Amino acid sequence: MHAAVVTSFDDPPQYRDHPDPVARGTDEVVVEVLAAGLHPRVRSQASGSHYTSTDELPLVPGIDGVVRDPKGRIRYAVLDDTLLGTMAERTVIDVRRSVVLPHGIDPVQIAAAMNPVMSSWVALRRRIDFGRRQRVLILGGTGNAGRMAIQVAKRFGAAHVIAAGRDTARLGELRALGADETCTFDELALAADVDIVIDYVWGEPTARAMVDMLTARDNRSAPLTWIEIGSVAGPTAPIPSAALRSTRLQIVGSGIGSVPGRDFVKELPKLVSAVTHGVFDVRARAVPLAEVEHAWTATAGMSDRIVLVP
Ligand SMILES: NC(=O)c1ccc[n+]([C@@H]2O[C@H](COP(=O)([O-])OP(=O)(O)OC[C@H]3O[C@@H](n4cnc5c(N)ncnc54)[C@H](OP(=O)(O)O)[C@@H]3O)[C@@H](O)[C@H]2O)c1
Repeated sequence: MHAAVVTSFDDPPQYRDHPDPVARGTDEVVVEVLAAGLHPRVRSQASGSHYTSTDELPLVPGIDGVVRDPKGRIRYAVLDDTLLGTMAERTVIDVRRSVVLPHGIDPVQIAAAMNPVMSSWVALRRRIDFGRRQRVLILGGTGNAGRMAIQVAKRFGAAHVIAAGRDTARLGELRALGADETCTFDELALAADVDIVIDYVWGEPTARAMVDMLTARDNRSAPLTWIEIGSVAGPTAPIPSAALRSTRLQIVGSGIGSVPGRDFVKELPKLVSAVTHGVFDVRARAVPLAEVEHAWTATAGMSDRIVLVP
């Protein structure tokens, strides 16, 4: 079969021949891949920089996708960290980590939406005790996951959602998705009195944002839960110790590990149902899998989520 194959962590995957997959165990099946999202997580898998990387090569990237099982049913599936991901004509899934999709869905839309929606959905449902009427700030609100977080927070009953980003043109689109306010990273003191921060940025911008916000907070004893979900601006952030002593700040992370895999799986049916019912505004662009090498570099930083179609 054909697949996107990574042979060096310094180079993009190449479209080439790859051995056919073999299912092992009673819950595994070989499936035909219909669509696989090129999420930031997939880029870090292919560059060996994700915290789950085992440094083994060659590997076929892809952590999820829409697939057709041997009985012809269309499923959304998430994969364990494996050397054979979804960027291939065929792959192996564990049916326990998949959901059968209704007839007539668009595989590209589903493959684009699930990973970014899941990030905030699981964080608010499974990582913290999110109460209705809370005020939420999203750092990195212009990205795919940030745009979904606006919609997820509103759907879960947030009283007020502020989306922060660095690109003012992209920020201008976010009220249409439900953001009550938008701001740049330099204006975060205005968002000081939120209850929850959903952070896709981390790095130096987060450290600066945290100090600006905590300093400007009306009531420093009011709880503030900062959920670290992504790190587009850097893997480490210098947080001053005083930030944790002088305010009621709690920093938690949300991802595989801090949220058990079984909790992700438990959320899948409702999440899939919301996505397939068109609840979320999805930006997807389909690209043939055969063009993976070019797409990998040409689309970095693009606002639409690239979806590879075998
Ligand atoms: N833990 C989880 O469960 C989970 C799930 C999904 C995603 N994630 C992570 O969440 C992050 C965002 O994912 P995504 O799908 O939204 O990615 P994306 O669509 O590529 O968006 C990236 C966003 O980051 C912003 N950005 C990039 N570099 C920046 C910098 N130096 N300073 C400030 N902003 C910067 C971009 O802003 P501009 O608009 O200004 O370019 C864009 O809004 C990634 O790290 C991803 O791995 C985590």
